[in-house]
Amino acid sequence: MQMTETPTAATDGSPHRALGIDVGGSGVKGGIVDLDTGQLIGERFRLPTPQPATPEAVSETVAAVVREFGWTGPLGVTYPGVVTEGIVRTAANVDSSWIGTNVREMFASRLDGQDVTVLNDADAAGLAEEKFGAGREVSGLVVLLTFGTGIGSAVIYDGVLLPNTEFGHIEVGGKEAEHRAASSVKERKDWSYERWTEEVTKVLVAVENAIWPDLFIVGGGISKKADKWVPLLKNRTPVVAATLQNSAGIVGAAMAADGALHRH
Ligand code: BGC
Repeated sequence: MQMTETPTAATDGSPHRALGIDVGGSGVKGGIVDLDTGQLIGERFRLPTPQPATPEAVSETVAAVVREFGWTGPLGVTYPGVVTEGIVRTAANVDSSWIGTNVREMFASRLDGQDVTVLNDADAAGLAEEKFGAGREVSGLVVLLTFGTGIGSAVIYDGVLLPNTEFGHIEVGGKEAEHRAASSVKERKDWSYERWTEEVTKVLVAVENAIWPDLFIVGGGISKKADKWVPLLKNRTPVVAATLQNSAGIVGAAMAADGALHRH
């Protein structure tokens, strides 16, 4: 797909768009996002995540996705761990060679120096859900938790993200939260929704006792089946399912490229 125009951030009436790229365990997915509506413009484009998913190999794939869109405007990319100032700090479910990598520079070097914003995957999903998805009518403190291979978290207060919270790694009853209640644990142990939801409740209670959100949003693949398990939860704070599903990471990455990490 070729774009015929080069959109820029809207200060002058030009289209308010950015390219978001979500780097996941199986796919690297990109899309151009209308930042006023949170809608994707045109189709998503996906390439398989290279195996092994080294920083170099993933950078090549990210660059290939950017080229597919012919994109030279603002660009945001997600990473499934802590990222501060463009540098990866943790790698819980990806190769440890990512730790210490300056991903902002590494991605940019394959893109003729194009500026890249890199942020945590759950933070991206949280930004998107809070503004355009399940949290859009809610004011106050929203906590998004994604359930997948691990557990990701995002904390947003009135539109402002507190980046790099890692609630998947807090200890709950002597065990890391994501080892207790990620959806990968449900699969591995072949648990029913009832059984798994007991563990999810414990994690939500630990988080709500520490930070007292107004709303939890639950995301990740398993949130597509939210009607099977969200009603079983026994924690105090209201819980709703994410609504943007597959596009949340893309939309949030695009929002970050547009400055969403630096609002005040
Ligand atoms: C990582 C988080 C990430 C989450 C979901 C966790 O293991 O520490 O940074 O958001 O997995 O990918």
